[in-house]
This record gives sequence, structure tokens and C-alpha cells, in this order.
Amino acid sequence: MQGPAILIGEQLGLYKALSASGLVTSEELAKKTGLAERYVREWLAGQAAGGYVNYDAASGKYMMTPEQAFTLANEDSPVYIPGAFYLISSIYKDRAKIADAFRTGKGIGWHEHHNDLFIGTHKFFRPGYLANLVSSWLPSLDGVVQKLNDGALVADVGCGYGSSTVIMAKAFPKSQFFGYDYHLESIEWAKDVAFTEGVSSNTTFEVALAKSYPRKDFDLVTFFDCLHDMGDPVGAAKHVHESLKPNGTWMIVEPYSNERVDQNLNPIGRVFYNASSMLCVPASLSQEVGLAIGAQAGDSKLREIASAGGFKQFKRATQTPFNRIFEARL
Ligand SMILES: C[S@@+](CC[C@H](N)C(=O)[O-])C[C@H]1O[C@@H](n2cnc3c(N)ncnc32)[C@H](O)[C@@H]1O
Repeated sequence: MQGPAILIGEQLGLYKALSASGLVTSEELAKKTGLAERYVREWLAGQAAGGYVNYDAASGKYMMTPEQAFTLANEDSPVYIPGAFYLISSIYKDRAKIADAFRTGKGIGWHEHHNDLFIGTHKFFRPGYLANLVSSWLPSLDGVVQKLNDGALVADVGCGYGSSTVIMAKAFPKSQFFGYDYHLESIEWAKDVAFTEGVSSNTTFEVALAKSYPRKDFDLVTFFDCLHDMGDPVGAAKHVHESLKPNGTWMIVEPYSNERVDQNLNPIGRVFYNASSMLCVPASLSQEVGLAIGAQAGDSKLREIASAGGFKQFKRATQTPFNRIFEARL
């Protein structure tokens, strides 16, 4: 019950308005947001019952603490959570389709899901990229930040709405970024995001497959949370290999995972294995080869893929509790 109420609060700007208001009545919040007071009053009580906002019984007013605002109102905070609920919402909506795939063994393409998946992926992953990509992930790769500062050519493959592309383009204005994804709708959104964020001049977004995107001589090719979604990750690795300069770098960001199932039976594995069975495995099975390594493939599987693609060096460069960052070199 809390999940959809979080999405209503996000969509209608209730959290943002409340967190910017201090102590307010439901009438004041309804007026501020232009919404119907009777609905807002009930929503506030539900939020307070969940501990997501605070209620002051003496005055009958509501407010959000900085911690509550950090998770629910501030899209740039590293723990902004509503994106997760859009993702979950898409899975509920596509449940019949997914159950059918369990019966037939057939795949479900990323593009075949409800729109909540695409917006959810953007909103859910962006906070982690904002918090880590420029400050720690790129610096963990040998010589890459220097090249980006000087002006490098970068491909961000499987870029979705382009959150990672736009963050890098903002940080490194002398570099040129090409975002590729096979999903047309995502590419259209990515162009909009780049425009809004003021990075249209050093970003280009195109519909393209990981195995056949155009252009060569990239200094850096990045794959954010998408290699395991691909049917033919080895084919993709080979194409990355061909598209890089001889001293170029392939950066692969994958969900955090240990090597074996018994080592992943924890809250992170719980989220990722479930997402994997309902989103990632079907996505891979819908494409040619259909390798379906899953979102919890261990380092050795990823190393095998990079090596089959022709990469001589492969290492885990850094990690967070949610992500592993790999560096592959020619
Ligand atoms: C989990 S989403 C990650 C999106 C984005 N990188 C991010 O981190 O927000 C996986 C993305 O991979 C894309 N994708 C899947 N298979 C692909 C392929 N073979 N070639 C190009 N893109 C692909 C999907 O369309 C989707 O946008």
C-alpha cells in the first residue's frame, strides 16, 4: 500500500512541496500543490503511519525531517528511493506476461515492458551514478580521467535515458559522448534529458545495438548495468574491442554480486535475483544467442566474456555495496 502512495507523492510533487514548507496543515499543502484537500489529508496520514513524514498532533500539522526529505524529496541525494517503486510497479503490471514466459521459456524484450520500467531505471540508478561515477568510479580506471579532462571520445552503450552519459558530459565538457541503446523511446528521452541538463553540444544519442553501434577510435566505452541484459554479451565484447583505440578502456558496471548463489543469499541478492528473473533473464532470452547470465553473474563469468571478446586484461577496479566496476583493456 505504501508503494503506490510513494509514487503518487512523487508524481504530484507532494514530498517536494512538504519538505520545502516546514510544518503545514493538509489544507496548506493542498493549496500549495493545487490538489484536492480530502485526498491530501488521507495521503498525509498514511505517510505518517509509515514514518515517511512526521505528524504534530498538537497543531494537526505535518512536516518532513531532513532524513525523510533526503530519501523522498531530493532527487540528487544518493539514497533517493522512489525510482525503485516505479521499477516494481512495472513488474506488477507485466506479471501475466512474465508468468507466461516462465511457462514457455521465451524472452521478453526490454522494450516490451510498461513505461514505468524505463522511468524507474532512470530515477533508481541516477542517484548512485551522481554519488560515485565522477568522484570514484572513473578515477579507479587507469589514466581515464586525464583523457576525459583533455578531451576524449566516449561511447555509453545501453545508455537508457542517458543518466550516466549526461553526468559524464557535464563533468568533462571537452569530451564527446555518444549514447547508444536499441530502445527508441529511451533514446528520445535521453536527448530531452541532455537538453534540459545543458549538455546537448557534447552528447549524441542514437538507436544502436551493442554489437553494431557505429564509429570507432573510442578512448572509453562504458556499459552501465546492461551487459547481463544482452543476449550476446560476447558479441558485444568483440564489437567493443574493435571500436576502441589500442590504449582504450572498457568500463563495465554490473550489480554487486559474489561468485556463488550461497554467497548472495542476503538483501542485495534478494533484490537483484528477483529483478533478474523478472527483467534481466527475459531481456537476454529475447535476443540472439540468449546467454542469460543473470544480474548476479560472478566476476569469473564476466572475465570469461571479456576474454572471449579479445580483451587481455580484466579486473574489478572498485565497488560499492550495490555495484561492481570492472576495467577491461586490450
Ligand atoms: C537496466 S537498463 C540500464 C540503462 C542505463 N545504462 C542506466 O544505467 O540507467 C539496460 C539497458 O540496456 C539496453 N539494451 C539491452 N540490450 C541491448 C542491446 N543488445 N544493445 C543495446 N542496448 C541494449 C536496454 O534497452 C536498456 O536501456
